[in-house]
Amino acid sequence: MARVALVTGGTRGIGAAISKALKEAGFEVAANYAGNDDAARKFTDETGIKTYKWSVADYDACKAGAAQVEADLGPIDIVVANAGITRDAPFHKMTPQQWHEVVDTNLTGVFNTVHPLWPGMRERKFGRVVVISSINGQKGQFAQVNYAATKAGDLGIVKSLAQEGARAGITANAICPGYIATEMVMAVPEKVRESIIAQIPAGRLGEPEEIARCVVFLASDDSGFINGSTISANGAQFFV
Ligand code: CAA
Repeated sequence: MARVALVTGGTRGIGAAISKALKEAGFEVAANYAGNDDAARKFTDETGIKTYKWSVADYDACKAGAAQVEADLGPIDIVVANAGITRDAPFHKMTPQQWHEVVDTNLTGVFNTVHPLWPGMRERKFGRVVVISSINGQKGQFAQVNYAATKAGDLGIVKSLAQEGARAGITANAICPGYIATEMVMAVPEKVRESIIAQIPAGRLGEPEEIARCVVFLASDDSGFINGSTISANGAQFFV
């Protein structure tokens, strides 16, 4: 029987590529999304992947959503905590609301997503947790005090979960994408984006599929000894 994978933010951007790649690799995939019904419908029409609507910022909704996915598809063995948002502003202009929205989704959202699944993974003695962090959690970024803090925090979650899950057959790993050609990066003002691309030795933005392929490997049974690691996929823009 195919293992079941849940991908949060799985209908757009990097998440959509991850959902599709996991399906192509033989997993049964559930793609969560928070708000864009049109994009979710289009995604299901194109891929046949079932979508589920809830906000990762809401613990009870995550718990209920995961239960629904498990009722429909079976126990979730792989979870990809990918959902993330930006509310960029220079620190002197950043509002508490911009801080809290990003923390609630990008950091607390990872707790909310993984926590309801953890007991089942422990019982079944198998689990794969993959968290999509960011190059900006590694190096910081102008106008992203909120986002960089959450993405750095995600690495702390992964390194701690790895230690807790290791003996129960659960791995937790992070991927830090650099700048990838998605709506999120395209929303950056063009001039700023051009200056960012100039800093990428590869001379281009990454493709969502280049991140998805990393996830497929980390989700596989074969990756069991890779635990607590951070994979940087950024075209040589930054080394830890
Ligand atoms: N480094 C240094 N200075 C920068 C800068 C940078 N990266 N980006 C902007 N600035 C400067 C501007 O040149 C401007 O300087 P001047 O005042 O001297 O002209 C100043 O900072 C911006 O001041 P504003 O008052 O005009 O700023 P604003 O309130 O209009 O905000 C902004 C503009 C939100 C910062 C906008 O420039 C922006 O979106 N920047 C991009 C931030 C970024 O890189 N975000 C990453 C998004 S992609 C992502 O997050 C995915 C991932 O994981 C990699």
